[in-house]
Amino acid sequence: MSEWAVYNRSGSRRVLATKSLPGTRWLEILAAADCSVEVCESTEILSSDEIADRIGQACDGVIGQLTEKWNGALFARLAAAGGRAFSNYAVGYDNVDVPGATAARIPVGNTPGVLTETTAEMAVALTMAAARRVVEADRFMRAGRYHGWLPNLFVGQRLRGKTVGVIGCGRIGAAYARMMVEGFKMDAVYYDPRANQDFETFVEAYATLLRDRAEPPVSVSRLETVEQVLEVADVVSLHTALDGSTRHLIDRSRLALMKSDAVLVNTSRGPVIDEEALVAHCRAHPKFRVALDVFEQEPGMKPGLAELDNVTVVPHIASATVWTREGMATLAAANVAGILNGYPLWNGDGWLEFLEGQVPPFVPSIVNAVELGL
Ligand code: GLV
Ligand code: GLV
Repeated sequence: MSEWAVYNRSGSRRVLATKSLPGTRWLEILAAADCSVEVCESTEILSSDEIADRIGQACDGVIGQLTEKWNGALFARLAAAGGRAFSNYAVGYDNVDVPGATAARIPVGNTPGVLTETTAEMAVALTMAAARRVVEADRFMRAGRYHGWLPNLFVGQRLRGKTVGVIGCGRIGAAYARMMVEGFKMDAVYYDPRANQDFETFVEAYATLLRDRAEPPVSVSRLETVEQVLEVADVVSLHTALDGSTRHLIDRSRLALMKSDAVLVNTSRGPVIDEEALVAHCRAHPKFRVALDVFEQEPGMKPGLAELDNVTVVPHIASATVWTREGMATLAAANVAGILNGYPLWNGDGWLEFLEGQVPPFVPSIVNAVELGL
């Protein structure tokens, strides 16, 4: 049986958090909304049945995790217990059956904005780790295999002036691309069904600055297909949401289009890459380098992946900074508390106002707001 801690026991509303979350602001927000908060202190992932049991007969809202399957039956269960609010503790919500939640009249919150730079910074870290073989070299060093400087030891890829390709140029994709353009003076190409005008304007202005300084300028182009990005980019980073249109977006035939010494980074969702095809591709192309934060069937890896020297792997930690994880807790709590209080939806610019000082009397972000007429 999992251990649950209870905060603000006297609250008249009952809210569950299926994992303990960082910081205290989120608990204060829920306490101010007259909620008692039951927090599961186990690090084990709860099954839908365990969550349904804990919801019990009366539960007003839940903060859930991306590791949990929030299906229509679970939302129906929450609604039957009088539940009126759910927030995922994540910006992505491929673990949530949103139509199922809508059918149960339950708003689904997410936590945008506070992950943007943190996730982009991790994508940069992974890019550098892959391009300069940092993790491979660390293993070599620790194994006592360094016997002296050599001209050809761990030679990697220089990024300056090369081309960075971004698939999915929303908030995170554009923040990453900006870091690569500003930091390494890379040209940017991207694929996204929607043009990111703000990003393009930024790169053009940056190119003007460089030209004025008599430095080689940078460029940006939105390409018409994923294939075109894969063909021209030296570094490709994935920043799409996971849905039917992006599952196995990077498959065997698309990998074959990439430069044989390209770098591929994924901080989005594992199933965007066909991981078996990736293993085969990395085996066949030792100079191709991959860095992954997410996996097709977390927490597992496809056979062979962990044995490859040209692969760097980290356990889904792209949003793992104190500031971001506390910010996500704040937004998730404000989503649940705001719905229970009957607040209107936030229509401000960004979400930073929620993180400090008085919490605005608004609901930060509800993904099925239109469907529910909110
Ligand atoms: C993390 O992966 C998130 O979607 O927030
Ligand atoms: C992250 O915060 C995003 O929504 O892009």
